[in-house]
Amino acid sequence: MSLKKVLVTGGAGFIGSHTAVELVNAGYEPVIVDNFSNSFPFVLDNLSQIVGRSLTFYEADCNDKEAMGRIFAKEQFYGVIHFAAYKAVGESVQKPLAYYHNNVGSLVVLLELMAEHKVKHLVFSSSCTVYGEPEKLPVDENAPVQKANSPYGNTKQICEEVIQDTVASGQELKAIALRYFNPIGAHETSLIGELPIGVPNNLVPFITQTAAGIRKELTVFGDDYDTRDGSCVRDYIHVVDLAKAHVRAIAYASEQSETSLYDTFNLGTGDGSTVLELVHAFEKATGEKLNYVVGPRRSGDVEKVYADVTKSSEVLGWKTEISVEDALRDAWNWQLKVKDQVFEPTK
Ligand code: UFG
Repeated sequence: MSLKKVLVTGGAGFIGSHTAVELVNAGYEPVIVDNFSNSFPFVLDNLSQIVGRSLTFYEADCNDKEAMGRIFAKEQFYGVIHFAAYKAVGESVQKPLAYYHNNVGSLVVLLELMAEHKVKHLVFSSSCTVYGEPEKLPVDENAPVQKANSPYGNTKQICEEVIQDTVASGQELKAIALRYFNPIGAHETSLIGELPIGVPNNLVPFITQTAAGIRKELTVFGDDYDTRDGSCVRDYIHVVDLAKAHVRAIAYASEQSETSLYDTFNLGTGDGSTVLELVHAFEKATGEKLNYVVGPRRSGDVEKVYADVTKSSEVLGWKTEISVEDALRDAWNWQLKVKDQVFEPTK
């Protein structure tokens, strides 16, 4: 019996590569499309080492409908998991049109091709950024979507709406938007992980690069918030737990009897950690001492956000299994593997 093929756009990226592994583990056939705009070809070789064989790969831009159409015609996908997108909040403020073009445009191209080729299962990478600063914590999927505070965040909201409108139009499509909290960690083999280009924006790569001596010190952005220790609270989730939720979401969509559906699920642990707690958890998990200072708040940061995971657990049938400490240890082992390399854009 041939395996169900799942298109993984952005499959050479951080979350996409881990999801490709979990698809193989669950008996699907991932087909990776990536244009290496924020990822590197060596990841594909490392993926092959993890799964023990090479995976089908196409270098293409998801906005290129002709190229993507040829791939759809050839591969006959069972489903699509769409990761490929720009993701830097600050950059999106400088280059909004690049973000709208890439993030919204590529989704539209994929939805058109899914209609043309009768591909009925979609999993979309959304973000807890849609909740802004939630009124009630933990935040559940019914919380109102708040006005985005960056073009990046807005692309996630618009994409969710584009998918809902497509489902409402009667296209035979079962679509799941997964709202990620803060993905961290790396594969236990240390063969794949996060590869920030230049100076990391995100906390954990900044921590591991500081411990590795690439950065002088971590600046904790603010310790005067209304939280346990004054630093911001987030819900940090291991990327492998996150990856497994995508596989579960494809299966869940196919199990539903409706021909069209749209649903959203939070992907988090359900627990919040402050920035300072994370720093100390890193020190404990790795035995490394971290150089850090407290600086001013970063503009646009929400004070606290963590997930209510009741729906993901009860409806999707998924929950996290890996602790924050293990995630930090995996992130550190990955940093030791890439050593002091700082990755530069390939294009
Ligand atoms: N932080 C620091 N110092 C740093 C980097 C981060 O103190 O050098 C703090 C931030 O202020 C924040 C926490 O660490 O309190 C987490 O920051 P990240 O940048 O790692 O993550 P964010 O929660 O800000 O952003 C993440 C994703 C975005 C997404 C957002 C949605 O990276 O793509 O969640 O809430 F939009």
